[in-house]
Amino acid sequence: MSALAKNYNRRKIAFKKGRGSFLYSKNGKKYLDFVQGIAVNSLGHSNPNLIKAINNQAKKVWHVSNAFIIPEGERLAKRLTQKTFADYVLFQNSGTEATEAAIKAARRYFYSIGKPNKNRILCVKNAFHGRTIAAIFASGSKKMTEGFGPKVPGFDHIEFRKFKPRFPNIRNKIKKNTAAIMVETIMGEGGIKPIPDTCLKYLRKICNEKKILLILDEVQCGIGRTGDFFAFEGSKVKPDIVPIAKGIGGGFPLGAVLMTKKVAKSMIPGSHGSTFGGNPLAMSIGNAVLDQIFKKTFLKNVKKISKYFYQELIQIKIDYPKIIEEVRGVGLLIGLKLFIDQKKFIQKLEDNKLLTIKAAENVVRILPPLNVKKSEIDLAIKIIKKVCKEYK
Ligand SMILES: Cc1ncc(COP(=O)(O)O)c(C=O)c1O
Repeated sequence: MSALAKNYNRRKIAFKKGRGSFLYSKNGKKYLDFVQGIAVNSLGHSNPNLIKAINNQAKKVWHVSNAFIIPEGERLAKRLTQKTFADYVLFQNSGTEATEAAIKAARRYFYSIGKPNKNRILCVKNAFHGRTIAAIFASGSKKMTEGFGPKVPGFDHIEFRKFKPRFPNIRNKIKKNTAAIMVETIMGEGGIKPIPDTCLKYLRKICNEKKILLILDEVQCGIGRTGDFFAFEGSKVKPDIVPIAKGIGGGFPLGAVLMTKKVAKSMIPGSHGSTFGGNPLAMSIGNAVLDQIFKKTFLKNVKKISKYFYQELIQIKIDYPKIIEEVRGVGLLIGLKLFIDQKKFIQKLEDNKLLTIKAAENVVRILPPLNVKKSEIDLAIKIIKKVCKEYK
C-alpha cells in the first residue's frame, strides 16, 4: 500500500527512463510522451545539454543562500531582462510561488506609493494560478477552494467568455482599491483558451486608464511554448508583472516573477524571500534551457512544426466530426475538445502508447517538448487517427 497522500488520481504506470519525446515504462513499454511533465520538460527528457549543465554545476556548488551573490542567477536574470519587457527578476521554485510573488509585488507597489488600500486583484473566474492558499482564492474555483476556508480576501472575479471573447462588465469590477488585473495569457488547466490579442490590448488599455497593473501569468504558456518566448508577444501588449515557471527549468523546479522597474522598486531588502529560490543548481539549468530556446531558429521551428501539427489535427476533426469538437491552442500548447468522454479517449491513446493529459471543458491536452521531431508528430497523428477510427 502506498504511503503517499491520496491527493492525486495517479495513472497506473511508472517509468524507468526518458529520452527526448519518449518515456520507457518499468514493464518495458515505450510511450510517446506528449505530457512532458505538463509543459515542464521544454527540451524533452534527458536532454544532453541539461545533463551537462546539471553535472557541471553539481560538481561546483549546489546551494548557498540568497544572502550571497549568485553569479549564475545574475546571468539568468540579465538574459531574461534583455529578451523581455522586464527590468528585474525574482527567482522562486514553482509556478504558484511565482504568482504569489506577482500578487505581492503588485500590492507592494501601491503600498510604496502611499496607497496601501489599493490591494485587490481582479482575476478570471476558474483560472489557474497554483495551489497555495492565496492562489486558489485568486482562481475562485469552487473545486479548488472547497474545504480550505476561511476565504482569503482581496480577490475579485470576472468571467472570460470564449465564444464572445471579451470580459463583460470589467469596468464595473474595477474598484477604487483594485491594484491589478491578473490573467493567464492562455488558460491552460481551464481548457487551453487563449485570450485574444484584442482582449489583451483592451486589458492593457483599462489598466492604463485606471492606473492599475497588468499581471500576465505565463507559467504554462511562456518560455517558447507558443512559438514566441512569451504568449502575449504577438499582441504587442506590455505587462507590468509576469510569473513564469515550468518550461524555464526544463524539469528542474524553477519559477520566477519578472517585473518592470516601476514595480520592482518596491521590493526592497527583506520584503520577500525564498530559501531555495534562485540557487546555483536551478540557475545553471535555467541558463542551459535559455541556451537552446534563444538559438536563432528554435522558436521558428516551434511555430513551423506546430502549424503542421494543427493542420493534421484539423483534418482529423474534419474526418471525425462526432469525436472532435474543436482543436484549440497556440504553438505546442494544444487542446482537443471532444464530444465524447475525455477520460476514455486519453486512456485509449495511452493504450496505443501516446501520453496526453486532461484539461477542463472535456479537453485533451497535448504538450510535446518544444524540440519535438516531425516524425514524432506523425506518430502521434497516426495514434490519434487510429483511436478515432476505433470509435466508429
Ligand atoms: C498558469 C499557471 N499558473 C500557475 C501554475 C502553478 O504552477 P506550479 O504547479 O508549479 O505551482 C500553473 C500550473 O499548472 C499554471 O498552469
